[in-house]
Amino acid sequence: MRNRVEWRDAKVAEIRQVAEDVRQISFAVDGPVPRFDPGSHSNFRVEIDGEAANRTYTVIPAPPGQIAVAVKLHPQSRGGSRYMWSLGEGQEVRLTLPENRFELSWRASHYLLLAGGIGITPIYGMARALVARGASVRVVYGARSRGLMAFAEELQALLGDQLVLRDNSAGEHIDLAAEFAALPADAECYLCGPIGMLEAAKAAWAAAGRPVSRLRYEVFGDSGLFAEKPFTVDVLNRGVTVPVRSDQSLLDALIGAGVEMISDCRRGECGLCAVRVEAKDGQIDHRDVFFSAEEKAEGHRMCACVSRLTEGHAVIDVGYRG
Ligand code: FES
Repeated sequence: MRNRVEWRDAKVAEIRQVAEDVRQISFAVDGPVPRFDPGSHSNFRVEIDGEAANRTYTVIPAPPGQIAVAVKLHPQSRGGSRYMWSLGEGQEVRLTLPENRFELSWRASHYLLLAGGIGITPIYGMARALVARGASVRVVYGARSRGLMAFAEELQALLGDQLVLRDNSAGEHIDLAAEFAALPADAECYLCGPIGMLEAAKAAWAAAGRPVSRLRYEVFGDSGLFAEKPFTVDVLNRGVTVPVRSDQSLLDALIGAGVEMISDCRRGECGLCAVRVEAKDGQIDHRDVFFSAEEKAEGHRMCACVSRLTEGHAVIDVGYRG
């Protein structure tokens, strides 16, 4: 695991459509690229509305000297995926060498990998690494339709009948209880998908009596339970009212309005961007994995990088750090 963020220049080497809404973009990187683990992430300097910003993507297996990502074009993109999709071959970018926040333990007798939609990106790399080491692995991959499943052919060739595809448009869904019931006692499950899938998996994992430490996960920050709508916040002791567009995060809106904020992961993991919600007339759509279910139910705090109000207005305190 890398501990230091190291920015590099790179050029787009290849672009490949790997699903209806997913492009694999490979970058030739200046200088050597150290070996990286499956589940690692790179940050990219992107341009959104003429302003520089950073976006994080999971890296997928790539030839030596390259870093590759698979980017889903989000209809409600806050700008990151739109920028990545605008890249052409030969275009120059800035990116960081991969670092890992979603690591395989390498200690289990069997691995169940669950992917929902674009959550396949770390799962794809993990499956390849586990098979290469001769580990016992099963992948269950659900998406809204077959055409939206990136890397399905590659996984089929890799895993044979240990790959299960669940096409939601055909009425197929992942049977979490059955999958967990079939696991050996010391199996581990790795999940990447939307927050609703994670919450269902946590509940099914607990109901199956399995140890919390053996369910590992990450979610996409833009996968809420509600569609994005605009809302406004009054910032306590700052005297500003900040409108937040449907295609913008609360964190970006606050920074854009000149409110000083601290943040790191921008994925709802570290909690650095948390704000206290003093009053609200909408609901909070919690999209982070930092706060517990109980803290989310209290509704007093939210991670500004990914969570948002369903609509309406709130009064927030950005000076709060808990
Ligand atoms: S920046 Fe890490 S949770 Fe928001």
